[in-house]
Amino acid sequence: MSTDPRQPGGPAERELLAALAVQLAWGADEALEEAPQNRFGMWAEAAAPPAPSPPAAARHASLSFVAPSLRTPPVAAAVAQAERLAASADTLEALREVFAAFDGCALRETATNFVFADGVPGAPVMLIGEGPGAEEDREGLPFVGPSGRLLDRMLASIGLSRRDGTVYITNVLPWRPPGNRSPTDSEIALCLPFLRRHIALAKPKLLLLAGGVPARALLGAREGITRLRGRWRMVEIASLAEPLPTLATLHPAYLLRNPGAKREAWSDLVLLRRRLDALLPGVGQN
Ligand code: URA
Repeated sequence: MSTDPRQPGGPAERELLAALAVQLAWGADEALEEAPQNRFGMWAEAAAPPAPSPPAAARHASLSFVAPSLRTPPVAAAVAQAERLAASADTLEALREVFAAFDGCALRETATNFVFADGVPGAPVMLIGEGPGAEEDREGLPFVGPSGRLLDRMLASIGLSRRDGTVYITNVLPWRPPGNRSPTDSEIALCLPFLRRHIALAKPKLLLLAGGVPARALLGAREGITRLRGRWRMVEIASLAEPLPTLATLHPAYLLRNPGAKREAWSDLVLLRRRLDALLPGVGQN
């Protein structure tokens, strides 16, 4: 037997395999870059004295909800570019094209597919989730995995469906964050101008926000979803004549992990159904 610890099957290889197994168990199932990084070198750099910080950029509408450190270039410049591109789109098809081609968000590099929307544009309810998971990334459609199947059952329970023209579905992020990690504030800020334009072009009557990411992004709040859910709020969208009644609710993935919380989700759905009935009596219940 070899005594060299670096030989195949030696202690070094076993240690590396164990480290890989931990990463997999924690959800890091995608390579971020072609070439490996020398993390030890990075630590050495991090220990060096900090470089002077760049000058603060002008305050920016889409960045007003993120931490001050993100309101500096290059994030602010990329958000400004996202706003210009989103505003240039006059149709949903044009928006899909400019968004898919937008290279200011690094998630684009690691995702398999760009996931734009599903259902019928113009539907009275627009549901906004967080971002694609593994199945959505593979298929290029939102909410087609386990949480999507629960979502479809939840909507059906109040007579709505993405198939019958009553619900249109999208996400804050069109690209899957690697290993399903939570999106960063800057990734959300970069996608928000496209989401706001998406809403303006789809012209729903009501917005339903599934989970904390869309709730914080569109309500400009920093509280958790359990505080934000269950109450109607009005959201202003540029080019829409009236602010949109918007309801935040628990994400179906959370409900799969916490079935006891379905009671709260059900009471949110009842609120949605009542408001819809007041606007369009009986819609979707035929
Ligand atoms: N979770 C989301 O928020 N969106 C999807 O499309 C799938 C899972």
